Amino acid sequence: MRQKLVAGNWKMNNDLEQGINLTTQIVELMNQQPSLNVLGVLGTPFIHLPQVAKLTASTTMLQVAAQNCHQEPSGAFTGEISCAMLKSVGVTYVIIGHSERREYFKESNELLSRKVDAALSEGLTPIFCCGEPLSIRESNDQMEYVCHQLTSSLFHLTDEQIGSLVVAYEPIWAIGTGKTASAAQAQEMHEGIRNHLASKFGQEIAGNIPILYGGSCKPGNASEIFAGPDVDGGLIGGASLNAEDFMAIINSL
Ligand code: PGA
Repeated sequence: MRQKLVAGNWKMNNDLEQGINLTTQIVELMNQQPSLNVLGVLGTPFIHLPQVAKLTASTTMLQVAAQNCHQEPSGAFTGEISCAMLKSVGVTYVIIGHSERREYFKESNELLSRKVDAALSEGLTPIFCCGEPLSIRESNDQMEYVCHQLTSSLFHLTDEQIGSLVVAYEPIWAIGTGKTASAAQAQEMHEGIRNHLASKFGQEIAGNIPILYGGSCKPGNASEIFAGPDVDGGLIGGASLNAEDFMAIINSL
């Protein structure tokens, strides 16, 4: 059985107090549903991580994610944060290869493969993001494009390593635009991603990798998107900044 999960990506939003308030509200709402079998992950800015990890520590169905990490274990990399540092404050997940990092910070497939290695070597679970820009969707080359991202950054992993990873499919044209992929488009891509992973790692391993959908997912459209058999949850930007909306998305899984 694949783990169902909904990960929030706060991006560069919320000061410390706002982040603590949001987390406190989410913890309260999660505690009202002790039998929930969906894992919630809070992807916060670095400054929030230690406190968010403390606030969520008693709630096993809530975990904490960083939004980025450095590929080296330590050293002279001013302004960067290593995976060991993340682990030391209670972080268990790390978002790697978000399209905003690929675009604005020029993170390449090759660099991302090193970040995945760094995360796995510290026992962190990478949430590896892939997804095509609008021009690629318009030329109907999205599957090839996304498969290339996966091959370049993940196909060097061992069976055990890939088995401890989460994939997030986020079509770039749907991120923060209010435009989502249709449920059929999402399922088609998720199935293609799973088949591509199976071509390298086998059906059984690929069948156990959670694949999340991201891009303008909200309480109003989550159930429809999550209905696809290969859609195991969501990576949520805007709607994760509101506790009730985030919980409503968790509940629609
Ligand atoms: P959005 O962002 O939900 O605001 O579209 C998703 C993401 O970038 O992970």
